[in-house]
Amino acid sequence: MSDNYHNLTINEYRFEEDFEELSKIGQIGKTGVNRPVFSEAFFEARDWFREKAQQAGLESIIDSAGNHIMRYPCEDPDAPSFLLGSHLDSVPNGGRYDGALGVLAALEVLRRISEMSIKLPVHLEALDFSDEEGTLVSFLGSFALTGMLDQSVLKNPRGGRERFLDALHRAGLKENEILNAKRDPDSFAGYLELHIEQGPFLEQSGHQIGIVQAISGIAFYRLKFIGRADHAGTISMQDRLDAAQGASAFTLSVRKILLRDFSHCKANVGNATVIPGAFNIVPEVVALDFECRADDLEIFEKIQSILLDQARLDAERFGLGLEVEFLGKRDPVAMDPDLLSVIQKASDHLALSSQRITSWAGHDAQAMADVCPTAMIFIPSIGGTSHSPDEFSRWEDCVNGANVLLQATLMRIRGTNL
Ligand code: HGY
Ligand code: MN
Ligand code: MN
Repeated sequence: MSDNYHNLTINEYRFEEDFEELSKIGQIGKTGVNRPVFSEAFFEARDWFREKAQQAGLESIIDSAGNHIMRYPCEDPDAPSFLLGSHLDSVPNGGRYDGALGVLAALEVLRRISEMSIKLPVHLEALDFSDEEGTLVSFLGSFALTGMLDQSVLKNPRGGRERFLDALHRAGLKENEILNAKRDPDSFAGYLELHIEQGPFLEQSGHQIGIVQAISGIAFYRLKFIGRADHAGTISMQDRLDAAQGASAFTLSVRKILLRDFSHCKANVGNATVIPGAFNIVPEVVALDFECRADDLEIFEKIQSILLDQARLDAERFGLGLEVEFLGKRDPVAMDPDLLSVIQKASDHLALSSQRITSWAGHDAQAMADVCPTAMIFIPSIGGTSHSPDEFSRWEDCVNGANVLLQATLMRIRGTNL
């Protein structure tokens, strides 16, 4: 083998064993995973990750945002770090691949490089970011690490303040120390993340690797439609101020407006809380958890303002008040062109077909892109299904993706040109 390690591949048997072990942590049904951030299953997954890294002789660091960082250090303590990673948390009733694949691949790349005793000019790190899925605070770990986290978001976390404080306590984290996880941007040499596509394009086009050129923007709101509680039997249909009517009208408007004017963008009413919430009380308040996504900054801003105006109109139509709570956003972001070429070279070298692609799912890479050269590698998702136990990717594609991650990492940090 040449000392450029052009033919080095991951240990796919170990990688598969890891995948099987991790998939059992928080398993529901045959193929589902329920591992919300800071749940017992999530802690167990993190313990598993740390143990695997320690067995491989890697350093392990937990920062003040709970991010789990496994490290293959280089000789120069002052050198920057090249980061690989993703997330071990899942959405409720999620799948086995979302996030987990990227963390497992990052771990395997570090182990492979470490067991070959490859000398690097930078430290290499494998990360599991805290709360990528935003169960409590969207992108908690990566926003803290990059200095993008705002204190106000911690005061009003989208998962609820009490739940957040309770989770921090169970995780042994302190609210007033979370922002200390910020690292000097000069300490980052770059970031690469392997992930399943979670959409249908790669499978449809028949390409094995997606080279992510951009990640769409995403904004979160809680919209409260406010009416008046009343006896459901005695107040006439005409006279009631029924919050559910406004909330439902808005939910339908969202679909209509998107399909008509922004058909390639996305918006979702993902949850509705009806207060007080009983058969026989006219709903006083309905709180909608709402998000929208676009791949172009101008359209992203336009969609938000049009949909919020629509929420006001739909509230007025039923005599309701409206409270808009902004819960955070991330603008659309482009990936680093040089890293894209490196991924292209790695894919070509491994004789894998590839295509440039935009990510419509959110990723920690959106935060990392602010502080260092960043890119992502996608592999096909069968049927485009994700955030569901039916999420599935062919194992050979998972191995291909991890090998591209390994080769792209080596090419980039050792400056190898094939
Ligand atoms: O919601 C998302 O896009 C994600 O999977 N974090
Ligand atoms: Mn996800
Ligand atoms: Mn993910």
